[in-house]
Amino acid sequence: MNIAILGFGTVGSGIYEILKNNKEAIAKRVGEEITVKYILDIRDFSSHEDAHLFTNDYNVILNDSSVDVVAEVIGGVEPSMTFTREALAAGKHVVTSNKELVATHGDELFKIANENGKAYLFEAAVGGGIPLIRPLYNCLAANNIKKIIGVLNGTTNYILTEMITKGRDFDSALKSAQENGYAERDPSADIEGKDTARKISILTSLLYGSRVDCRHIETEGITNITMEDVKYAEAAGCDIKLIGYGELENSKVFARVSPMFISKHSPISCAMGVYNAVLANGDSVGNVLFYGQGAGKLPTASAVLGDIIDIARHKNVSMSWNSENSDSYLSDEDVKTGAFVRIAESSDISFSEKYPSAISLEAHTSSEKAYIIPSMTESEFKKLSCIKKIRCENNFKPSIG
Ligand code: HSE
Repeated sequence: MNIAILGFGTVGSGIYEILKNNKEAIAKRVGEEITVKYILDIRDFSSHEDAHLFTNDYNVILNDSSVDVVAEVIGGVEPSMTFTREALAAGKHVVTSNKELVATHGDELFKIANENGKAYLFEAAVGGGIPLIRPLYNCLAANNIKKIIGVLNGTTNYILTEMITKGRDFDSALKSAQENGYAERDPSADIEGKDTARKISILTSLLYGSRVDCRHIETEGITNITMEDVKYAEAAGCDIKLIGYGELENSKVFARVSPMFISKHSPISCAMGVYNAVLANGDSVGNVLFYGQGAGKLPTASAVLGDIIDIARHKNVSMSWNSENSDSYLSDEDVKTGAFVRIAESSDISFSEKYPSAISLEAHTSSEKAYIIPSMTESEFKKLSCIKKIRCENNFKPSIG
């Protein structure tokens, strides 16, 4: 099987490296060799040890009928969209780590793949190296997955972990994540939650069977999280994590991205640094936890190669959702959340009167009060007027002391 790698950045070079190191073991498992025939990149790689593989002319790849699979690891919408469409139309399978493209144009590309009898696979688009898409789509297909809660962005989790464990500031932690190849080209996609929104859009679309449009996903990043919030979370027995959250109920769907207080006893609290964790709750299987490195060169390349190997073994694989946008979203009145709130000491809002279940946390300054309110509707949460509010899991009880 011959493949072409589009983009020799972090993930593309990882695919090349794994194939070079594990070529024989992979060939033994698959029953045939997987060979890199071309690498497309506009930069100059004339001094690379395999310089003859590089081209900057995509038509060379399209017109070579011996290329079976194209690995699109460029990222972004264009030129990735055009390249993918053309590869599928030319009768080649396409695999990708490009969550932006899958989240925004996946349904159109599944259709083109289907019309051409080829696969468009995207295991690496969510959860980096964690086997996640395929288990949710295949192994758990007998379940109604009612809830999915995930730490889906390695960069923000790395930043928050550095703040929590080392008291390090936001900017230096972000710089280190970028140096390690975790961050997006534009890191605002990470820290403002857009990358997580794309990923939870892909997961909920797969589980729901119709496209859950990113525009319907309320998205808040971590740029407003301060060391004060981190300390309050610690006092409540929690860490703050950026969470992609999905609920599916009575044929309706809800998705949201926001920072949340996550109890240190929660299964997903194991995700520290660049690690991701996703907890899915199915009506038959109960809770299932997926855990592993959610970003980085070799973990992501490992997932891309998993797709290529699946194609080599089965040829006829596919994964998709319907192209119609979901028109059945749960309303903010139907979704419950816990809340951490900081209010001014002088505030005349009495949280304990309005929310008798509110649990008081020891305030860090004399000018404010802090509470955990175990449960309220999403709509109530949005209307809360306070210094700071951060969601917790519904029915959350802090472990104080
Ligand atoms: N920027 C992404 C992250 C890369 O940090 O998780 C992997 O999708």
